[in-house]
Amino acid sequence: MASAEHAEGASDAALRISELRISLEYHNRRYHEDDDPEIPDSEFDLLVNELRRLEEEHPELASESSPGVTVGGAPNTTFAPVVHAQPMTSLDNAMDADELRAWGSRIEKALDGEAARYVCELKIDGLAVSLRYEDGHLVTAATRGDGRVGEDVTANVRTIQGLPQVIDGVPSVFEVRGEIYMARSVFDALNVEATKAGERLLVNPRNAAAGSLRQKDSAATARRRLSMWAYQLGEAAFDVAPETHTETLDFIRSRGFPVNPEVAAFDSFDGVLDFCVSAVDRRHELDYDVDGVVIKVDNLDQRRRLGFTSRAPRWAIAFKFPPEERLTRLIDIRVSVGRTGRTTPYAVLEPVFVGGSTVSMATLHNEDQVRAKDVRPGDTVIVRKAGDVIPEVVGPVLSERPDGLDEWSFPEVCECPLKSRYVRAAGEADTRCVEPQCPFQRDQKIMYWASRGAMDIEGLGERTVVQLTESGRVRDVADLYALSVDDVEALEGFARMSAEKLVAAIDESRTRPAWRVLTAFGVKHLGPTAAQALASKFGSVRAVLDATDDERAAVDGVGEVISASVTNWWADERHRDLVDRLETADVKFDVMPASSTAASNLAQTLDGRAVVITGSVPGYTREGGIEAVVARGGTSPGSVSKKTYALVVGDGAGASKLSKAETFGIPVIPAADFDRFLETGNLPSEG
Ligand code: IVH
Repeated sequence: MASAEHAEGASDAALRISELRISLEYHNRRYHEDDDPEIPDSEFDLLVNELRRLEEEHPELASESSPGVTVGGAPNTTFAPVVHAQPMTSLDNAMDADELRAWGSRIEKALDGEAARYVCELKIDGLAVSLRYEDGHLVTAATRGDGRVGEDVTANVRTIQGLPQVIDGVPSVFEVRGEIYMARSVFDALNVEATKAGERLLVNPRNAAAGSLRQKDSAATARRRLSMWAYQLGEAAFDVAPETHTETLDFIRSRGFPVNPEVAAFDSFDGVLDFCVSAVDRRHELDYDVDGVVIKVDNLDQRRRLGFTSRAPRWAIAFKFPPEERLTRLIDIRVSVGRTGRTTPYAVLEPVFVGGSTVSMATLHNEDQVRAKDVRPGDTVIVRKAGDVIPEVVGPVLSERPDGLDEWSFPEVCECPLKSRYVRAAGEADTRCVEPQCPFQRDQKIMYWASRGAMDIEGLGERTVVQLTESGRVRDVADLYALSVDDVEALEGFARMSAEKLVAAIDESRTRPAWRVLTAFGVKHLGPTAAQALASKFGSVRAVLDATDDERAAVDGVGEVISASVTNWWADERHRDLVDRLETADVKFDVMPASSTAASNLAQTLDGRAVVITGSVPGYTREGGIEAVVARGGTSPGSVSKKTYALVVGDGAGASKLSKAETFGIPVIPAADFDRFLETGNLPSEG
């Protein structure tokens, strides 16, 4: 019995191994030879790990040529083959802290307890190259290829700025290895150009770098503005060789090669783990993609003793970041209607854990985007969630598309009970619902009113809003203020206490500052910053609405577009009626933030200054941070510009804001110094 089971297990395994090998060979080719991978690296790694595990459990099925053992792809015939003087091996991966610790223990054991020092480097997501210098002259640049034979890309590598072509003071044979990458800023700029020219977009910086390096025409490579970080030596005929990796990096740097500054050496493994954790947090602040941390034993003699396995060095390991791209099934494409009637198609996904949270929905933006991506219900799709960016569907995995899947088409009518017709005007990207009585728009308007950035009514979420409107108790936001505790308690899911809480929260919102009321109206173009400027200039909601176009447009930070939009909104009878009813319901229109009233004694340390806040600041909500700046006389716009006075940076800060601040030379205030900054208004250099 047991042996029959075993035989069955073995034949299952044989089948799965063969499936995995075929699949991996296909994806290997797409990645290494076509520069056009179809699945995320994380999914590829999962397949490799499964294959390696099965091959270990069934040594009789192992094979030297299995993609579980070999690395990379076959060289492309466009470029001449280059046999590497020393093989360019891959790295083993640690997928989590436990696997990383296990590697550390293996090192300690293999060194018989001898102390080891570890160097941590960022794992750059580009493609590996080896630059060979003879008598100080660059003679060959080669890709990794299958690790033994790569492709000759010398002419193209010569176009990369900042790589020395001739160097002094190096051994007669000297190979420097590193990663060629495309900076994020270059990638974004090239895609802006491609959009303008109506050309195909680059998918991601890594593919863009690989594709750019393998152009037949070097001038085309030059236009792609590639970069390189050097991190290792290949063959190098030193008289006196460096003894540690740290010395090697110093030497490479001293010869003019770009060496990534984010390197640190640790004598304890705790330091290594801390570095990895903080690298995960900082990855989005960098101008290049990083997919992990490479940890290397520093001492080169220890490295020699540790040696290599069949596929990778024992003395180094790649700690892979949690994936930001995963595969999942696209169950359906549905359409949501926003408060202005704009519709957004969105993907309903089989839930997948990606980028630190479980994702079951992702926006698809508009009809053209769905068409461009050609995603269809039933497809296996790549879902991406990077940092604090909302999740997106990158595209389908075409090789996994079941037969007979129909292309998705935009529905003609809304799902709502009115079944209203959608309209897409000529030349517009958006499809709209133009039905004035649209129940979806009405619900969204109420939710927007209650949202944190507007009237901030805690506990008034979508479910409650829908119950309130469907039961007919609430038709618009003014009706909220007539709700009794009994009304709310009658809703599903409410007990006496929670009903009292909600009614109290609604009541509390009556005294929100005027800028919040203005924001909560949802007037097109009128965001919190302009609303703050208007409210503090005119002193009340009505005064803002009744001011002339020119009076409003003259306010700093407002301008003609916003002012005209307010005029337009205020010309609508329904809005005038709403404002009257809100006033009757005792919603206050002239509350100013504590600081700008005469009673306030807060020093106006930021008078007229724009302070942008990015990431979370301990002790403040997002709105709380903005209010604190406003209370000091400043404004807090959502984006950095030349006029920004300072950028306050907390955890999870946006990379683009930081790099913009750097470009414009705008002072950066760490979140920990925010309170002091509010009190003094002083920039770091002013002490
Ligand atoms: S060292 C024998 N250091 O990651 C060790 N590799 O998955 C050679 N990579 O093939 C590699 N950043 O293309 C090393 N700081 C770094 C790296 C790095 C990125 C790439 C490299 C390598 C792959 C392994």
